[in-house]
Amino acid sequence: MYPLEILTGVRQVKEFPPFRLDTDNQCLWRGNQRVALTPKAFAVLSYLVHRSGSLVSQNEMLDSLWPDTFVQPEVLKTHILDVRTALGDSAKNPVFIETMPRRGYRFIANVQEVNQTPQVMLPRPGPAKFIGRTKELQQLGDFLEKAKGGTRQIVFVAGEIGVGKTTLIDMFEQQALATDADVRVIRGQCVEGFGTPEPYYPILEALGHLLRGQDGDQLAEILATRAPTWLAKFPSLLKPEHRETLHHEIMGATKERMLREICEALEAITANKTVVLILEDVHWVESSTVDFFDVLSVRRIREQLMVVATFRPVHLALVQHPLKAVKQRLLVHGLCQELVVDTFSEIEVREYLTGKCGHGPLPDGFAELIYRHSDGNPMFIVAILDYLRESGLLSDEQPWHLNVPVSEIDLEVPSSLRRMLELHIDRRLTEEERLALEAGSACGISFFSNVGAYVAEMTPDRFEHICEIFADRRQLIYSLDAFAMPDGTVTPRYQFVHTFYREVFYRRIAPGRCARMHKRAAECLESHFSEQSVTIAVELAWHFEKSFEWAKAVQYLQLVAENEAKRGAYSEATSVLQHALELVAKLPEPENTKGKARLLEKLNTL
Ligand SMILES: Nc1ncnc2c1ncn2[C@@H]1O[C@H](COP(=O)(O)OP(=O)(O)OP(=O)(O)O)[C@@H](O)[C@H]1O
Ligand SMILES: [Mg+2]
Repeated sequence: MYPLEILTGVRQVKEFPPFRLDTDNQCLWRGNQRVALTPKAFAVLSYLVHRSGSLVSQNEMLDSLWPDTFVQPEVLKTHILDVRTALGDSAKNPVFIETMPRRGYRFIANVQEVNQTPQVMLPRPGPAKFIGRTKELQQLGDFLEKAKGGTRQIVFVAGEIGVGKTTLIDMFEQQALATDADVRVIRGQCVEGFGTPEPYYPILEALGHLLRGQDGDQLAEILATRAPTWLAKFPSLLKPEHRETLHHEIMGATKERMLREICEALEAITANKTVVLILEDVHWVESSTVDFFDVLSVRRIREQLMVVATFRPVHLALVQHPLKAVKQRLLVHGLCQELVVDTFSEIEVREYLTGKCGHGPLPDGFAELIYRHSDGNPMFIVAILDYLRESGLLSDEQPWHLNVPVSEIDLEVPSSLRRMLELHIDRRLTEEERLALEAGSACGISFFSNVGAYVAEMTPDRFEHICEIFADRRQLIYSLDAFAMPDGTVTPRYQFVHTFYREVFYRRIAPGRCARMHKRAAECLESHFSEQSVTIAVELAWHFEKSFEWAKAVQYLQLVAENEAKRGAYSEATSVLQHALELVAKLPEPENTKGKARLLEKLNTL
């Protein structure tokens, strides 16, 4: 069973159907499902809900939710985006949160106060068990030891989206703090840019934590003497004696001066204690912080400093990414380390699931199913489990059990993941790129470039150019070996990085257009394969079925069944013919009767 929290006393809960916001317990519910929100996104939502109907300015929210902290408006926008994603709301046609351009936000849904009865028992998911990463933690621990010895360490932690970089760093932080009271860990988060970001934003954020911590006064003194332009960025923390002098300093604050000052300040701060500076998601870093890496790395001084920067390689692969060249240079000169966080192995997926389900036995075949569909990416695993729970396929009363056999589970893209990927597609891709990838998705999980181009109605060169850009970064798709078609045409081939990506693009295609795309794919494949069409009968049957060309679909299904029968797979051949029978029933007479008779005869001879 979940750990249960017994709550006494009447609690005020705000309801805006289908959601309920429970401020006491910091959670958002949709029916009896808890909606995942980060603590800060929850605070943003809660603030807006409590002021529902009123315009809340950005500044008001920043001041209230981040008192004494340096935060730029982009961070607020990111949290608003997270809240909208959780609520399934859209900025264009909002149902819950309206954006009032340049003024702020307004919660527009009707909010009711409801009194939650006393003695309510709320399920609270148990803490997720930390899985694997022994080697990575060991490596990070070794780097920390070197930093403690005065050799500065810069460590880049690479890994695809959701693979567990933050979770690894959290665990490293916990262990570092538990083993040495003299270590300070500070963190700064890079945010996806919506405008011109504040120079050195993540470092400012990290320093803010240190200034408010136990050594705050000491740090403020160091900044006042070594990095006054930095101290000036925290007006609410300034002492009266600093205010006057800093007023003059700010006037001369250039990016170069700030860079020099922060390096000197770090040297002083780390003179007698070790500092771990964690910079999260540096694929979104702004150029000043990139310069920070560059300049810091070449300073030949003893420093008990360890900088840990997490990033997604896909983003950094962009040719013009500011950090790419700097990181490369540091690697070549041995001035930084790189540590790659990989997806879970099948054993680790099993361990993760076993931990989640309270160490009871897992349903048969369940771990394999989850591994297959997630490729071992923990974020995908979490999303799949949520989906299975939401759709009633999995009961997570412990021990877990599935309400249908594993073989009958048809896993769709979990809705939270779909929303996230759709946001990405809408925000980041051009119309032409979307079209190309939609056409690719209509061809299947992997696709020939020339067929994709024909489906997208683009020139083959243009289509290939677009795909190459994505494949180079291994973003959404990657390259397979080129393929020589039976008619002699040689074409590149691509594959979606994950079936989820293909599905998200595919679902965006309107039904009529989707049918036309399949028809074009089928025609193009037939013309290139002509006599050899039998080798791709499965694909052709699928395309013709999806384009409502029943007669052609049945024709190719019969070829598929013949192939199956030839290799002795009679039960497969039977189910293919049975499916063909379903399609033949859609044909007009006399094709319907004739086709049915032919198929039944084939079934009898199997
Ligand atoms: N080692 C682990 N043990 C248990 N759960 C994990 C582990 N690694 C990741 N997870 C789970 O997977 C999810 C995603 O992990 P995390 O946020 O650390 O990924 P990330 O690589 O930082 O993603 P992003 O690229 O979005 O920053 C989280 O819900 C986390 O609980
Ligand atoms: Mg992360």
